[in-house]
Amino acid sequence: MKLSVVAVGDANVDLIAPIASLPGKGGEVWTHRLERHAGGSAANLSVAISRLGLSSGFIGRVGDDPFGHFLIDEFKKERVDIGQLQIDKEVGTGLMFIAITEEGERTMYGFRGANVNLSAGEIDVGYVKNVDVLHISGYTLLSEAQRKAALELLEAARGAGVFVSLDVGVLTAMEAADRVRSILRSIDLLFLNELEAERLARIEDPEKAAESILESGVKTVALKRGSRGCFILSREQRVRSPAFRVNVVDTTGGGDAFAAGFLVGIIEGRGLEEAARFANAVGALAVTKAGARSALPVRQEVEEFLKTAKI
Ligand code: RIB
Repeated sequence: MKLSVVAVGDANVDLIAPIASLPGKGGEVWTHRLERHAGGSAANLSVAISRLGLSSGFIGRVGDDPFGHFLIDEFKKERVDIGQLQIDKEVGTGLMFIAITEEGERTMYGFRGANVNLSAGEIDVGYVKNVDVLHISGYTLLSEAQRKAALELLEAARGAGVFVSLDVGVLTAMEAADRVRSILRSIDLLFLNELEAERLARIEDPEKAAESILESGVKTVALKRGSRGCFILSREQRVRSPAFRVNVVDTTGGGDAFAAGFLVGIIEGRGLEEAARFANAVGALAVTKAGARSALPVRQEVEEFLKTAKI
């Protein structure tokens, strides 16, 4: 079966705790609810694509523990192909502790666990040669084994003429900006937020930073601006698309949902403007419940939302 999108990167269990506000260093704070959710940026994207009605696969690594088996069950429920998922017998599943403050902003403390051991030798690169999009999470560039695997997949996909997207991620922009810069020419579509753009371009103005990143070889830049929507840049076009107004409960995974919506728009041949609007809608809906995947919409929900949504 030909898959539309294959994502490579992290699969985590997210332990989510709503708190009143972040404590200072050495402080204490209580939560009245602790929730377990399936997460991980690339894994979330593959689930979002599937909910929107396109086929998807995920390449990553989980531990052979209850958390890993929980994630496997979730992938199966969501009809995401996990034929290339690896199971680590020694290292545990990636785990994120996520504190959500009252305005819905999330702060994460993470253990990447088995994710970083993704083994290039165990991947059949043929898996990504016949897909519409290979989506790479920037987290893969942070550690050696996972990076090797991602770069081999990138090379295989490029060789086969497959469209490649990359979602940078805050830590990658701060700790591995050079690694991102070194592959920009091989990337068709780059997703990043304002902070990531500034770090990557070393320019303290997100729009100017995005312009400069475009000049360095990537074909399209999608700048995610949270409550201000998005700014899309290609060689021929500049598109500004405002965010939709929703009640924000938890921003975790909002960027993954946006990226999934944008990719669906591109795969279906919508122009940048329409793809941006669709992506903003998917991203907006996704942040209305706690957990990265709880509010990921199906196609019909997006279409209904777009009929009445306010900016
Ligand atoms: O992008 C959101 C994801 O980032 C969360 O689900 C968490 O697991 C972290 O990887």
